[in-house]
Amino acid sequence: MSSTVPLVIAVDGPAASGKGTIARALAKHFGLPHMDTGSLYRAAALTMVRFGGDPGSEFEAVRACAQMAQITADDPELRSEIVGSIASRISAYPGVRAALLERQRAFARQAGGAVLDGRDIGSVIAPFASAKLFVTASIEVRAARRMAELEERGMPAHLEEIVVDLAARDARDQERADAPLTRAGDAQLLDTSGMGVEAAVAAAIAMVQKTR
Ligand code: CDP
Repeated sequence: MSSTVPLVIAVDGPAASGKGTIARALAKHFGLPHMDTGSLYRAAALTMVRFGGDPGSEFEAVRACAQMAQITADDPELRSEIVGSIASRISAYPGVRAALLERQRAFARQAGGAVLDGRDIGSVIAPFASAKLFVTASIEVRAARRMAELEERGMPAHLEEIVVDLAARDARDQERADAPLTRAGDAQLLDTSGMGVEAAVAAAIAMVQKTR
């Protein structure tokens, strides 16, 4: 591929797989802007928690998408488990996905290239991405990582509950009709189960470089 073509990197994978860490590191390494697309779904969920709205109603979830500018990216509640769980539920609504689609596409299409992480980046948001990674890890490893992350944020949790929640989230993400979590046919698989952050990032950089 010619190096004049903007580098667009799609990083998809299940909850707590390490895709966010990898996407941030790729953005830094290649000097690209990064969008954590899960934070859009989380912002809509937090809008419902804070200003009211029934996550069981697609109409109310779509309305929250139009009001979520009130939530700032550094809001600590964005990363809470309850917000993640509501985000997972409302992300199954086609109306919610449609409401959040354009800003993700525009980010992916910006002139200088970009890194986006999420569930449907390589398949729906940026099927034209020059490099696609599907990051995964075993559910035990993902649960342990999520627990450490929550503890670090002063939000202690129980490992068994996290395993159950992750399994439910995986099922919802994979089984929804609209833009399910799936490995795009041309995505390279990165299983980070036995890897530390440095090794996973190095492997991801090597995978992207291979596509250039
Ligand atoms: O960290 P975790 O994977 O739990 O969550 P996240 O990446 O912040 O995303 C929150 C929720 O939004 C996920 O459970 C997904 O169901 C949903 N999501 C999605 O449907 N599509 C995306 N591109 C990104 C997130």
